[in-house]
Amino acid sequence: MADEAKSESIIRFERVTKRFGDQVVLNRLSFQVPRNRITVVIGRSGTGKSVMLKHVMGLLKPDEGRVLVDGVDIGTLSGPALLGLRRRFGMCFQNAALFDSMTVGENVAFPLVEHTRLSAREIQDVVAEKLRLVGLTGVAHKMPGELSGGMRKRVGIARAIALEPEIILYDEPTTGLDPIMASTIDALIRETQEKLGVTCLVISHDIQASLRVGHRLAMLYDGGIRAEGTPEEMLANPDPVLRQFMDGRADGPIRVL
Ligand SMILES: Nc1ncnc2c1ncn2[C@@H]1O[C@H](COP(=O)(O)OP(=O)(O)O)[C@@H](O)[C@H]1O
Ligand SMILES: [Mg+2]
Repeated sequence: MADEAKSESIIRFERVTKRFGDQVVLNRLSFQVPRNRITVVIGRSGTGKSVMLKHVMGLLKPDEGRVLVDGVDIGTLSGPALLGLRRRFGMCFQNAALFDSMTVGENVAFPLVEHTRLSAREIQDVVAEKLRLVGLTGVAHKMPGELSGGMRKRVGIARAIALEPEIILYDEPTTGLDPIMASTIDALIRETQEKLGVTCLVISHDIQASLRVGHRLAMLYDGGIRAEGTPEEMLANPDPVLRQFMDGRADGPIRVL
């Protein structure tokens, strides 16, 4: 199973080290993301999960090691080649990160306007289709400020899938939502992955959400992957650091500052 997942991996971190000043955030991190599955990287706040995602997008470069997407070292790309690679990604930012002065429809249309030569009419059709896919209809004319937190997340997902990406990156998709809203967003992430057959890399500190949404989970701890596996394997893994995090206990090997 593990070997099969490896040969199918679309994103690979190879001994990646990233420092900010004296702080070592990623420390010879090796990690693989299998194609056409949902992988969730879990870990406490401040452990470097967003830093990992930024490496995948080429927004940050490793100090040492490489990040490969489909075998291409993105640290070596720049200009049009890097933009071309980024087009294969849909990014769902923490807090949805919508443009508040644009309507919902304009938000979803934004990447289409920027990156395609579709006509206004064609764009409108794609926008309607993507909004329908995330369970939103009749809101294209509304302003983001008029929507609930859960609806804003849905708009963020619709925008991320507008260009039909191969890989969707989600940064803390359910943070700040109530538990019911959070589980509907988790279901939507699953549904979208199944309908579009894409690869998803989700980062989250919400263990319950991660168990619901991930085909595979990996725990980032102390700059590296401490444990990984299916939700069942993670639940059965006796590693004390993993257990403390998953059980949400204050006592254990993880220092709580
Ligand atoms: N651009 C940056 N410059 C300096 N420090 C950074 C930068 N980005 C992240 N960090 C630091 O790296 C650590 C990991 O951050 P981050 O990846 O955002 O954590 P999280 O796991 O909560 O997403 C934090 O201590 C943060 O302050
Ligand atoms: Mg983060």
